[in-house]
Amino acid sequence: MRKLFRRGSLKLYVFLAIIFATATPILISGYIMTKQAENALLEEKKSKLMGAARMLEQYLAADYDTILREQGLEHAGREEQIRGLNRALAEYTDVVARANPGVGVGYYSKDLDAILTYGPSEQYGNTVGIRIADDHPGRKAMATGMAMIEVGLLVRGPIMNAMLPVTRKGEVIGYIWSNELLTDIQQQIAAMERKVYQAVTAGIALGLVMALLMAAKIGSDVSRIKRGLQRLRHDLYHQLPPSFGELGEITDEVNLLSQKLVTARTHNEYILESISGGVVTTDKEGRVTTLNRAAEQITGLVAVDVLDHPFEEVFSSEGEIYQIWSTTSNSGQPCPGREILYSSGDNTMHLLVSSSVLLKNKEPIGTILVLRDLTEMRRLEEQVRRADRLAALGELAAGVAHEIRNPLTSVQGYAQFLGEDLQPGDPRQDYLATIVQEVNRANRIMEELLRFARPTTPYFRYVNLEEELEQTLVLARQVHSKHIQIIRDYHPLPPVMADSEQLKQVFLNLLINAAQAMADSGGIIRVSTDYLPEKRMVVLTVDDTGPGIPPEYVDRLFDPFFTTKEKGTGLGLAIAHQIVRLHGGNIEVESRPGRGATFHVYLPEGGEEDDGRRKEEHPGGR
Ligand SMILES: Nc1ncnc2c1ncn2[C@@H]1O[C@H](COP(=O)(O)OP(=O)(O)OP(=O)(O)O)[C@@H](O)[C@H]1O
Ligand SMILES: [Mg+2]
Repeated sequence: MRKLFRRGSLKLYVFLAIIFATATPILISGYIMTKQAENALLEEKKSKLMGAARMLEQYLAADYDTILREQGLEHAGREEQIRGLNRALAEYTDVVARANPGVGVGYYSKDLDAILTYGPSEQYGNTVGIRIADDHPGRKAMATGMAMIEVGLLVRGPIMNAMLPVTRKGEVIGYIWSNELLTDIQQQIAAMERKVYQAVTAGIALGLVMALLMAAKIGSDVSRIKRGLQRLRHDLYHQLPPSFGELGEITDEVNLLSQKLVTARTHNEYILESISGGVVTTDKEGRVTTLNRAAEQITGLVAVDVLDHPFEEVFSSEGEIYQIWSTTSNSGQPCPGREILYSSGDNTMHLLVSSSVLLKNKEPIGTILVLRDLTEMRRLEEQVRRADRLAALGELAAGVAHEIRNPLTSVQGYAQFLGEDLQPGDPRQDYLATIVQEVNRANRIMEELLRFARPTTPYFRYVNLEEELEQTLVLARQVHSKHIQIIRDYHPLPPVMADSEQLKQVFLNLLINAAQAMADSGGIIRVSTDYLPEKRMVVLTVDDTGPGIPPEYVDRLFDPFFTTKEKGTGLGLAIAHQIVRLHGGNIEVESRPGRGATFHVYLPEGGEEDDGRRKEEHPGGR
């Protein structure tokens, strides 16, 4: 039972209420029914007994004296008179007694003070002549002349006794009784009570079964809802199973509520997943609770792998991100934003990291970090800076070159003029030749410099990048050593709008640089092309296995005159960069010190072909 009903459970209350509601009226009506039936039975007995007595009175047409006179016994002794009256009346008594089985009837004579008949005679005939006791109610009936019914212990035992006084000529001459043993009545009442009890028991049993069924149904509905609510705590997508009636209305409302919560939460999740900033949150214990998609992309971590893990396990405790996080989570001090260099895999990124305390109802519940990837921004800034620097240098160089070219022409002219006066074999001839040679060299550099400072405007035509590359590779073969192997890795490309001569110059510069870098050791140059559909750009990559570029030089590579070579001008990359910029593209370098360098040339796909006209471009490519 304890298992079936828990204390205080709704199921128990429902069960008790139904039992109470069914059993009480059944018991009350059962009680009333038995009482009424008992009364009705007694009433019926009474009227039956009184009926028998009246019937017997009918048979006594005259009175006792008339009967005695007819028998000639008016002066006989008491005993004789009793016997005579008995002879006359016993016949009627037995008729009535037979008509009412179980009933005893008889005449009593007041004068003779004796029982005259008592039927059925074969049963009670021996009582004839007996005088009733002084306190017998029969005396009261005769004294008052009123019919009465008595229940009590009389001659035959516990009986109901109906007594009808016999009045003749205004005088009570005796009485007639009619009785029945109460045990008969009690048996009948007991039998009837038994039936009522059976009905009550059946009713209560039915109520019990119904109560059990209803309680079980409500109990199971309620516990289903309870279980559903418990599951909802962890899984908002769970729907409570449908129920009937008001419980059904409750489950419908709960389902609606959870759907609304899901929508609200999903909305927040969408926001979190859509923003470009990386968001990382931790709880009070320092365990990671959120790592949104942007944070995954920035850090290279996967949310499912790190959720619930301690922060210091996810981000190295030596790293700057950890320091920013731990400052905020330990002291509550927010960090408005600090730019750091963050390495994930081969990549080094510029990250802007800010942190603050995560509050819920003004109570701290953890820490939130926001990460912004500034790498691309910094790269673009560097490009702009580089272009600005080149443009300024170009202007300056062009001015200087112009100023120097004229004096150099004079120097060359006068040197040749002086040579005319010298004798062949004069050693000064050699000096003059050196002067002319060096002036020529200086002039070439001036030419280059002027080309850089005032670049010819590109003449755009559709070009096939692969073809241009192949032609350049033929040229480059003249300069590179035999120890260098060239590997080609071409991918299908859309046509590119470019000035083919200028493009070849760019490729040549890169190939010569790569070859020069590996002049002593030899190595591999890998030339590859690729198409980047999402950027609508093609990319040409020249990759070598030379010594690479020291990090401190990387920023200056594209500056004019930056060279590490004895005979280099340092203009190769500066001019290449400028040409690519004029094509709307960009050059990027990756260096692996000791292992090689990679140059990427990005060019936009397609574009419009010039119909013979040259594009007006500002020198410097801006
Ligand atoms: N593939 C490479 N590997 C290593 N260092 C390189 C590579 N390409 C360029 N460099 C470095 O960049 C510098 C600048 O190159 P740039 O082509 O502008 O001038 P240069 O090659 O020195 O002279 P020039 O091109 O006039 O012969 C080089 O001196 C070299 O130090
Ligand atoms: Mg060069």
